[in-house]
Amino acid sequence: MERSLVIIKPDGTARRRVSALVLNALLDRGYKLVAFREMKVPKSLAKMHYAVHKEKPFFPWLVDFISSAPVLAMVFESNNVIQGVRDALGATFVQKAAPDSLRGKYGIWAGINIAHASDAPETATDEIALWISKGGLKESS
Ligand code: RTP
Ligand code: MG
Repeated sequence: MERSLVIIKPDGTARRRVSALVLNALLDRGYKLVAFREMKVPKSLAKMHYAVHKEKPFFPWLVDFISSAPVLAMVFESNNVIQGVRDALGATFVQKAAPDSLRGKYGIWAGINIAHASDAPETATDEIALWISKGGLKESS
């Protein structure tokens, strides 16, 4: 059984119905929601979450953006959930995402793309541990 950290980012949460549609689409794929928290992301957590991108020119923007308004932080569990969520989201850049993908349908532009999703089992494990220890995310029993 695999787990993936999924975060609906401020461009999703600012449009409540978009959050609902994304959540519905992921539940409809059969994924089990094992943790859920609506929360404002502290800058310190945002920097740790995006540490892999810290040398990139867009790093300060990433940190500011994810901290700018409450997000929905979630852990989904299922076989192949990591790739499955990424397939459902579509390509990183909205204009490259397939028109029937979640980013293609609801994304705004470029990297303002609705949601984060873990990209591999190792990163998923690290991200989930980080959001449990520093983000107050709790696994349901
Ligand atoms: P995510 O981590 O959010 O699930 O997205 P991803 O794996 O598809 O993309 P990643 O390369 O990890 O990038 C993380 C986020 O950074 C923004 N981004 N901007 N301006 C740019 O060139 C650029 N590249 C990436 C996006 O918001 C992306 O989701
Ligand atoms: Mg990524």
